[in-house]
Amino acid sequence: MTDALATETPRTDPAIWWRQAAVYQIYPRSFADANGDGLGDIPGIVSRADYLAELGVDAVWLSPFYPSALADGGYDVADYRNVDPRLGTLEDFDRMVAALHERGIKVIVDIVPNHSSDQHVWFQEALEAGRGSAARERYIFREGAGDNGELPPTDWGAAFGGPAWERVADGQWYLHSFATEQPDFNWDHPEVREDFLTTLRFWSDRGVDGFRIDVAHMLTKDLSEPLPSRAELEGMPQDGTHPLSDRDDVHEVYAEWRKVFNEYDPPRTAVAEAWVSSPERRARYASAEGLGQAFNFDLLVADFDATQFRSIITENLEQSASSGSSTTWVLSNHDVTRHATRYGLPALEGSPEKQGVAWVKAGGPADWVDRERGLRRARAATLLLLGLPGSTYLYQGEELGLHEVAQIPADQRQDPSFFRGADFDGLGRDGCRVPIPWTASGPSFGFGTGDAHLPQPAWFAEYAADVEAADPDSTLSLYREALRLRRLLQAGEQLEWTETGRDDVLSFARPNGWRVVTNFGTAPFDLGADADHVALGPVSDGALPGESTVWIAPAALVR
Ligand code: GLC
Repeated sequence: MTDALATETPRTDPAIWWRQAAVYQIYPRSFADANGDGLGDIPGIVSRADYLAELGVDAVWLSPFYPSALADGGYDVADYRNVDPRLGTLEDFDRMVAALHERGIKVIVDIVPNHSSDQHVWFQEALEAGRGSAARERYIFREGAGDNGELPPTDWGAAFGGPAWERVADGQWYLHSFATEQPDFNWDHPEVREDFLTTLRFWSDRGVDGFRIDVAHMLTKDLSEPLPSRAELEGMPQDGTHPLSDRDDVHEVYAEWRKVFNEYDPPRTAVAEAWVSSPERRARYASAEGLGQAFNFDLLVADFDATQFRSIITENLEQSASSGSSTTWVLSNHDVTRHATRYGLPALEGSPEKQGVAWVKAGGPADWVDRERGLRRARAATLLLLGLPGSTYLYQGEELGLHEVAQIPADQRQDPSFFRGADFDGLGRDGCRVPIPWTASGPSFGFGTGDAHLPQPAWFAEYAADVEAADPDSTLSLYREALRLRRLLQAGEQLEWTETGRDDVLSFARPNGWRVVTNFGTAPFDLGADADHVALGPVSDGALPGESTVWIAPAALVR
């Protein structure tokens, strides 16, 4: 039946391609390793350009590929306008952009403006130049507390655990909201502001189509003395006046960035990673005068539950309609336990986040996860998401149905949150960053020619891309078909809920007649006459099986 639906994609206005895009996140050091050194690289991405085209994504977002000491997986950037020599050269980057553009795939790169690496030339200069120097002004240096300045200026904690201040040789302290190796920039400094404009133009000039902005809510800070204590900070309202987070004045920065984006035709796009207190505060990042779009992470902490999905969907569509942006859907990324695993964990403490923590803390015993059920629910949730208005961000490997790798020996882990004791799912974020299995056999399952930089488990063979490409029922085949049909379904940015008579079954219609039905429960749901119009997803005896989603084509499209 689906062959009847193989009509051409309606082309959208080139300036708003991002509004309904399926964006595939590549974590470059774990995607494909062309030179065999164990780290994924840019030529590796080029070698997989056809795979991405066959998958049918509209864009790729690359996590940082810049020179980095890898204290935080590349989010510690030593040079914003270059490629890590282990990953290739700027010429390789240009070749990659050309290869993707030739295949109709846009390129989004990650900008990390809150902090640099301590290896950045400005930070090295600041260390050498000493206290009171102009070079220290670009970062946040303070004298310590205590009789001899031997105590940190405040008791603030860093996001990865431990104190947020580090002392340097001459006795001053610098602020790092994340790892010690990630000093925070001083965004009151005109050179810092100017330098990021240069970086945005640098990549835009090289053909980059958009930017993902790391911790976009943290750049500007009010560090006037006396600095508040941690307890005082926690008691302060998150209304735009908080000293460290989601300050109203951060939008002055993004208004300047917007002018740069609009120098290009089509204008460059941006999406904010902004962990803020309310949908209304998030909408400010998504404004057309600012970054234009902001991540909605609500589904990362939701259960596989019809009521929760419905209210999250309704609320986010309302919010994006009011900001004039389009919403974003995310089930997995490089910071969280993969959703196939989250959905397969026993209900230990109520929320999937807590299940993940408990599971990973226990060393991730394999028998805690019902892999089959987790994947079944993940496929259902993904099909539901791909049918929604807005853009969907997919994380590399989820199209293979990959599960989290929990059993990584401590001496092979890399995530600073693991070593510094933060509670990012207990054992850190390495388990979703294990290199992709491309082939069922061979060294590092076809990722490279030798060992991968994080160990891959034997069960990765089952999920290898070559095995799945040959199997019409595989998760990869499902993603390919969904992404192909999605181009037909994504017309208009509205949806209308239809009543199903069951609390655990959601159904909605798109303006062009496509419908999506998800059965969150376990009892089959009778599809009635719709059973004849199913374009995608399982039907059995005219019913939608438990924990699955179908797409129903408008009658006119079905032969
Ligand atoms: C963002 C990134 C995360 C990184 C952190 C600090 O949350 O997604 O991976 O560790 O910022 O840059």
